[in-house]
Amino acid sequence: MKIGFTCALGFVVANGLGLAADAPEPSKYTGPGSCSSPACHGSVQAREDTSVLQNEYSTWVVRDKHAHAFINLTNPIGTRMAKIMGLPKPDTAPRCLSCHALDVPLDMRARTFDLTDGVGCENCHGPASAWLGPHTTRDWKYEKSLDLGMYNTRDLIKRSEKCLSCHLGNAEKFVDHELIAAGHPDLYFELDSFMSVMPPHWKDVDKDPWLGVRSLGVGQAVQLREQLKRIARESQGGIWPEYAELDCFACHHSLTAAKESWRQERGYAGRRPGNPPWNLSRYVVFRRVIQEADPQASQQLRAQVDSVNALVTALGSDRKQIAAEAASAAQMANGLAERLATMHFDQPTTLRLLKGISSDADDIAGQGERSAEQATMALDSLFIAYTKNDHLANDAQIRAAIHGLFQQIEDPSAYNGFKFAQAMRSLNALF
Ligand code: HEC
Ligand code: HEC
Ligand code: HEC
Ligand code: HEC
Repeated sequence: MKIGFTCALGFVVANGLGLAADAPEPSKYTGPGSCSSPACHGSVQAREDTSVLQNEYSTWVVRDKHAHAFINLTNPIGTRMAKIMGLPKPDTAPRCLSCHALDVPLDMRARTFDLTDGVGCENCHGPASAWLGPHTTRDWKYEKSLDLGMYNTRDLIKRSEKCLSCHLGNAEKFVDHELIAAGHPDLYFELDSFMSVMPPHWKDVDKDPWLGVRSLGVGQAVQLREQLKRIARESQGGIWPEYAELDCFACHHSLTAAKESWRQERGYAGRRPGNPPWNLSRYVVFRRVIQEADPQASQQLRAQVDSVNALVTALGSDRKQIAAEAASAAQMANGLAERLATMHFDQPTTLRLLKGISSDADDIAGQGERSAEQATMALDSLFIAYTKNDHLANDAQIRAAIHGLFQQIEDPSAYNGFKFAQAMRSLNALF
């Protein structure tokens, strides 16, 4: 970690940025060290009297897992992964650096830049060289920084896209079943839950008391869109079927005696018995959100998702057709994300979502572990958002019931759909 800067508020720093006298330089990445001065974002204590906390750097470097993303590439799991994949070294492989560091072209790295910093400020906030100096001046507006290349993390759609670029992958970087079989954790995401797990280094600028519900909704729409786009890419030009798109635990579970099998008892509605189903976790919660926002659109989306689902679970389907259906469903999810971003949620809608999602217990449970997991995270997030604004007489019981859902997904290979459905039905009875 190079800390080449001593920045004071209102003091324009040019060191290391190569700021030429006349022609404006293209934006460069300066590294988190340039944000770390105590007078900037490196204060130890959060400050109450300023618009930002000013201890963002300290929070990130001490508590945020993103700061370890590079170092963890060479942990025993990462090292073995690279060996299996035939990569020379995990911490020099572009395939890994794309998500575990700020792997930008050499001519965009300022002198202070250091690859070993992992996932740092500029991975999420964009290249800093153009706004680093000016943004410390008095009365500086966020919008001016955006004009100078800062990434708009306040915008929920853009924020989701940024997180999902690494937490789900995009056209440039991905974690597929090959990488998973080599040891990489499977990627899953839920914006509101992941934002709460990340040690906060911000004050919410958006004062909407139901912000958590809106970010959950937008995050769901964007992750469904991104998954559909990925299916379109893979089915067209990649390896297909790509196992990572399917329900992992349809294949990876321990077998029981036939009479004890919840899968056989559930049946295989809509697919040939034994065909692995599509991982529908990015739809099972979202459909309730969209039903709340626009019942008519929810029916159209359902028809689109059903046709992708039928093609994906049938195996041998026509690849072009899969790609076309997935692309058009992705476009619809995109429109819905834009709608949700401007919507306002409130107490009755949040309560209806809690009731609605938990009333889908049998369907969600039958879709497999990944769907159960997504619904559990969503119910937890929604209930946290709810209790920030209002209380139910049986809050403690509800919290215990949500905890019970988390217990059901602790060991994914031993996941039992009937037990999960039962636990979710008991939760539903409490609303
Ligand atoms: C598409 C983005 C992406 C790519 C590409 C990627 N990773 Fe990751 N990796 C992640 C994310 C996100 C996590 C954290 C997952 C979580 O906790 O939800 C992670 C976690 C890990 C972990 C932590 C596992 C543990 O708990 O010890 C290791 C090790 C790792 N990745 C190694 C690698 C290696 C080696 C490569 C290249 C072969 C690679 N990753 C490529 C996104 C990626
Ligand atoms: C993994 C992504 C990520 C990383 C890494 C990250 N941030 Fe952030 N940051 C966010 C998000 C999301 C927000 C909240 C949304 C917002 O208010 O912009 C935020 C908010 C902020 C804010 C408040 C901005 C505002 O909108 O008023 C500051 C200041 C900030 N971050 C500084 C930093 C600094 C300094 C670092 C590095 C030490 C850093 N961030 C690292 C994602 C990140
Ligand atoms: C440049 C890629 C990248 C971006 C962008 C990114 N992450 Fe991450 N994230 C990672 C990697 C890699 C890890 C795993 C770090 C490790 O443990 O080594 C991770 C870990 C996490 C974890 C810890 C998970 C755990 O298992 O404890 C959370 C929470 C998280 N990210 C949330 C977010 C959120 C929220 C955003 C968007 C605001 C975001 N991330 C953006 C790459 C990224
Ligand atoms: C269509 C069936 C199928 C699906 C769906 C599937 N896998 Fe696999 N997986 C396999 C097969 C086959 C192997 C190779 C096993 C072997 O070589 O012994 C494998 C290997 C693995 C391994 C390495 C073996 C081990 O025991 O550590 C892991 C981890 C893994 N898969 C995780 C996942 C995850 C996570 C998902 C979902 C994102 C998933 N798989 C989806 C069939 C599947």
